Amino acid sequence: MRTHLCGQVTETDIDQSITLNGWVLNRRDHGGVIFIDLRDRTGRIQVVADPDYPEPFAAADSARNEFVLEITGRVRARPEGTVNAELSTGKIEVIADEIKVLSVSESLPFQMDEDDIGEQTRLKYRFLDLRREPMQKTLRLRHQVISFLRQFLNEREFVDIETPILTRSTPEGARDYLVPSRTHPGEFFALPQSPQLFKQLLMVSGFERYYQVARCFRDEDLRADRQPEFTQLDIEMSFMDEAALTGLMEQMIREVFDSVLGVTFPDPIPRMSYHEAVNRFGIDRPDLRIPMELTEITDLMTTVEFKVFSGPANDPKGRVAALKVPGGNTLSRAQIDQYTEFVKQYGAKGLAYIKVNDSASGRDGLQSPILKFLPDDVLTSIMQRCAVSTGDLVFFGADSAKVVNDALGALRLKVGRDLDMVEDAWRPLWVVDFPLVEWDEDNNRWQALHHPFTAPNVSDESKLETNPGEVLSRAYDLVLNGTELGGGSIRIHRSDVQQKVLNVLGIDNDEAEAKFGFLLEALKFGAPPHGGIAFGIDRLVAMMSGVESIRDVIAFPKTQRASCMLTEAPSEVDNKQLRELNIQVRKPRSE
Ligand code: AMO
Ligand code: AMP
Repeated sequence: MRTHLCGQVTETDIDQSITLNGWVLNRRDHGGVIFIDLRDRTGRIQVVADPDYPEPFAAADSARNEFVLEITGRVRARPEGTVNAELSTGKIEVIADEIKVLSVSESLPFQMDEDDIGEQTRLKYRFLDLRREPMQKTLRLRHQVISFLRQFLNEREFVDIETPILTRSTPEGARDYLVPSRTHPGEFFALPQSPQLFKQLLMVSGFERYYQVARCFRDEDLRADRQPEFTQLDIEMSFMDEAALTGLMEQMIREVFDSVLGVTFPDPIPRMSYHEAVNRFGIDRPDLRIPMELTEITDLMTTVEFKVFSGPANDPKGRVAALKVPGGNTLSRAQIDQYTEFVKQYGAKGLAYIKVNDSASGRDGLQSPILKFLPDDVLTSIMQRCAVSTGDLVFFGADSAKVVNDALGALRLKVGRDLDMVEDAWRPLWVVDFPLVEWDEDNNRWQALHHPFTAPNVSDESKLETNPGEVLSRAYDLVLNGTELGGGSIRIHRSDVQQKVLNVLGIDNDEAEAKFGFLLEALKFGAPPHGGIAFGIDRLVAMMSGVESIRDVIAFPKTQRASCMLTEAPSEVDNKQLRELNIQVRKPRSE
């Protein structure tokens, strides 16, 4: 039908008769002459309907926003003074000879060029929301990113293999989405939290290099960077150690940023151990754009009289740390009170601080309610370690190491953002040398930090039975500006080691057999050394597009309450369906 695309008509087309298809972005009646901005996937163009041509004029007069039109007309230069330099088609316009209405539109729930449309409305009318330029841009960028990643892997002999969606529960740590089986009454499939076990089986099968753009399902508390269904670029390789594997993966990530955004990443991407990350930033995915760090002062506090500090300092699980805020002296009492409330969410009982009015005057240059509790030598040591200058403020956290790290780690991010200290940069980081397991206080047992198939460091294997908490794993996470983009590990490929790790995790033989006996079995039949990684595609694209939430890079996302506003899923189903599934729904427990 059309001869040209709206965004691609140029001055070289002047005096030509062309046909366009598209949507009415807006229509302006300028006392006699009607202007229509017509939009298609390539952009927009201005169409003019003149009352001297009554038929097209009448059609233009009846057209409303988002009507679909076919317009035939002549291209002409815009008159002097009406040129729009911001548009690719800003120097021309089309004078309409014929306008056909291909489809009409009811009046819209929001305007296509509106900026602050409520998210509820956007999600309810997602088909219209996706018509808007910013959404068109991000979804096209998403396509470009995935195409690039596929091509990178295809060129290196990776094979794209689909794994089941109806499967067994995988031990990725979140709650499963379950699907009842009709043919096996009382039994359920689980939707995969990741293709982890299948990709390991594919290595045993000899594919050596696998990838999949895989949908994963996790029923967990949602946040801006978490959705109940999300997409991973899932990868597994045989005969590669962690250096070779992370080397190839960072090349891929470097190239996709370079090709899509023209951004150059450091080569190599820096590495940091888990312990260093937690000690310096309170978190295992540090945002390196914020120039503040935690300073260790536990050792200085063991003998002070101030119990709030000496208690944790003398507790093997305790920590006392400082966070220097450069220029933070200007924070008001009210602001400090707000930060104190903020850290309480993380379990902190308070937030001590010292203001540095004059760094050269010792105690007299400092201002704080806790000064009287701290002797001179301790104050001097704190100020030296934190390298304070006049005008700084130092916050303190004292509690279990976990509470101090969580609280000061979060405070660092918050203060960094509030005081505009976030550098405009890309700061990727590999976090490595994770502990294999961590103690789960609630259930009184060891729990895998990644998943139970992560290989322990070879030199630590002997400590598995005696001191599991000290065993490091062969896992790695790729962190970008404080977001975990991807994570993976070298896997256990020997069934005896796998058995030992499962024992540490308190998963006995029967349970292991029932949950993933097929993997344990496969490890007995010539399993090659292997490892892999999975990247969160939604997070990657959200960061590349500069949007806050991954909902903005998913065509049809779920709300914070894990429902779909558009289809109103989840929904009740017919009794007949339930009967076939042998399911009886009981009344939900009241809140
Ligand atoms: P992991 O659980 O770390 O590893 O997941 C890999 C990456 O997936 C992204 N991600 C999410 N994105 C959006 N919404 C979610 N709910 C969500 N959960 C995770 C993150 C994360 O880094 N099988 C292992 C990988 C492996 O060992 O190879 C796994 O799934 O960006
Ligand atoms: P208090 O002696 O309870 O009045 O506390 C003195 C100062 O220490 C106040 O500024 C509190 O906010 C702070 N504070 C109390 N508990 C802690 C803690 N566990 N870590 C850091 N600061 C604390």
